[in-house]
Amino acid sequence: MKPSCIVRSLSVLCVLQCLFGCNHFTGSKVPLYEADTIACDTSRTILVAYFSRSGNTRCIAETIAEQTGGTLFCVERATPYSDEFRKCADEAKEERDNDIRPLLAGKIEDFDRYDVIFVGCPVWWHTAPMPVWSFLENEGYDFTGKIVVPFCSYANMFPEETLLKIVELTPGSIHPRGLPVKERDTKEVKDWLRTIHIIE
Ligand SMILES: Cc1cc2nc3c(=O)[nH]c(=O)nc-3n(C[C@H](O)[C@H](O)[C@H](O)COP(=O)(O)O)c2cc1C
Repeated sequence: MKPSCIVRSLSVLCVLQCLFGCNHFTGSKVPLYEADTIACDTSRTILVAYFSRSGNTRCIAETIAEQTGGTLFCVERATPYSDEFRKCADEAKEERDNDIRPLLAGKIEDFDRYDVIFVGCPVWWHTAPMPVWSFLENEGYDFTGKIVVPFCSYANMFPEETLLKIVELTPGSIHPRGLPVKERDTKEVKDWLRTIHIIE
């Protein structure tokens, strides 16, 4: 191929990438939620599981529990992260970079009775904190066939990637559209719960 053709081909590829750019997590820009596929059924039993360091995700989780009558469950690392922000950030990055699933404290005894499980966390280093990976993969909970609804709290970046990670970690579940929340701004929670047919 002539150099000019190679340059032209690369330019076309760049334009296509800009127009339809894929994210590097899945090759898909839009997370594959099955929004609107579930009918509203208020008899469903609901669990609201969340991980939170500084309280923002907990605040969203509490709002969801209030609106839905769901039961709250806090995902906790067996050995807590440092209280010091910098040290905590380093510990979290080390875990993420090395694909570590930290041990967790606490157990949901009656997990099987829940039909809907909200799973929420802050964005940490562009994705879900590794205790959430442990919760979804290593604790022996079977999410197959359950409705798993992701939500997250973030400061600036990567909320969709974080929601998508929760979707990816529960491949056999049904996923209504998740909710990204800037810090603890819960004003959209009620409308979102209606839109995804969890409440009427
Ligand atoms: C270790 C660490 C990494 C973070 N990485 C991100 C990030 O990649 N993108 C972002 O928008 N916010 C990031 N944040 C900010 C948190 O997502 C944000 O403050 C969130 O609201 C905290 O929720 P929480 O109070 O439930 O812990 C990070 C915070 C920490 C502690």
